[in-house]
Amino acid sequence: MEQMLHQTPSHSSSIPDGFVLPADHLRPATAAGVVSLPVVDMSHGRDEVRRAILDAGKEHGFFQVANHGVPEQLLRDMEAVCHEFFQLPAADKAEFYSEDRSKPNRLFSGSSYETLGERYWRDCLRLAYPLPAGDTKDWPHKQPQRLRKVVGNYTALARGLAMEILRLLCEGMGLRPDYFVGDISGSRVAVDINHYPPCPDPSRTLGLPPHCDRDLITILLPGAVPGLEVTYKGDWIKVQPVPNSFVVNFGLQLEVVTNGMLRSVEHRAATNSAAARMSVATFIVPADDCVIGPAEEFVGEGRPPCYRTLRFADFKRMHNVVNLGSSLNQITNIKSNQE
Ligand code: OGA
Ligand code: NI
Repeated sequence: MEQMLHQTPSHSSSIPDGFVLPADHLRPATAAGVVSLPVVDMSHGRDEVRRAILDAGKEHGFFQVANHGVPEQLLRDMEAVCHEFFQLPAADKAEFYSEDRSKPNRLFSGSSYETLGERYWRDCLRLAYPLPAGDTKDWPHKQPQRLRKVVGNYTALARGLAMEILRLLCEGMGLRPDYFVGDISGSRVAVDINHYPPCPDPSRTLGLPPHCDRDLITILLPGAVPGLEVTYKGDWIKVQPVPNSFVVNFGLQLEVVTNGMLRSVEHRAATNSAAARMSVATFIVPADDCVIGPAEEFVGEGRPPCYRTLRFADFKRMHNVVNLGSSLNQITNIKSNQE
């Protein structure tokens, strides 16, 4: 529990050594500054939405969605209840703290992946919403009292949105529309409630290292404070959140299934010294036993499979280490042309 950042004195003017990353891993975002990712308005006609998602997905691998059907009030409640949780006294949060990565529900600090010892400026409450029942008995329940209800409602709707986007992608790419229904999306929804406290020295550390999400697709509630940075044409660009919208990005399993037609794009979280930032990442996660490889629709004459077919559990084992910032090596490792 002493690892938690909320205990770092806010008046300190420097960061502990463990957080200081080598300068070559901290290339700043471009001077071009803040970029709005393409915004897809889900209330438009189905053909238009399908095309917009596929275009934005191919160009950036990241896009925002507006008019997505999740009520604004639920977004506000979600932000409020997550904020309330992180504001609780340390003693009230201690029972959820664990450094055991195999625990589906836990409070921890730093990267989700193993690191080489370096630390990251993030606290996280990770909750698993098992499907289909959504048994949430191990979630915090005493305080905030409405956390279970709000996060449960939110997760169900965010998952619905993710499944709708996957269906639209299937339609647009010529896969059967229910390709992602079942084990491949069916084990659980993982929810990471990220809290990035103000950081006295944002230029020397990161909230999250550069990484690609390893799930199928991620729905991010980015919060009003900027911090998400995405690679684009060899640079890091800052994402300006659009109010009441989600940021959507493809996970590595979608890259594998589409044989690289859709890419999982590297992203990271920067910190700032002025304000705490909160974000909520909802991951659609395959079952451990699910075997995932390029779909036959994307393989054929002149299009060899570029990725190995692996059980998701084996994929995770291979992809568990963040090597001081770049997960590109791990992606290269899963490509099938290595041996
Ligand atoms: C993540 C993530 C970005 C953010 O949780 O995987 O990339 O802006 N979060 O918090
Ligand atoms: Ni991520």
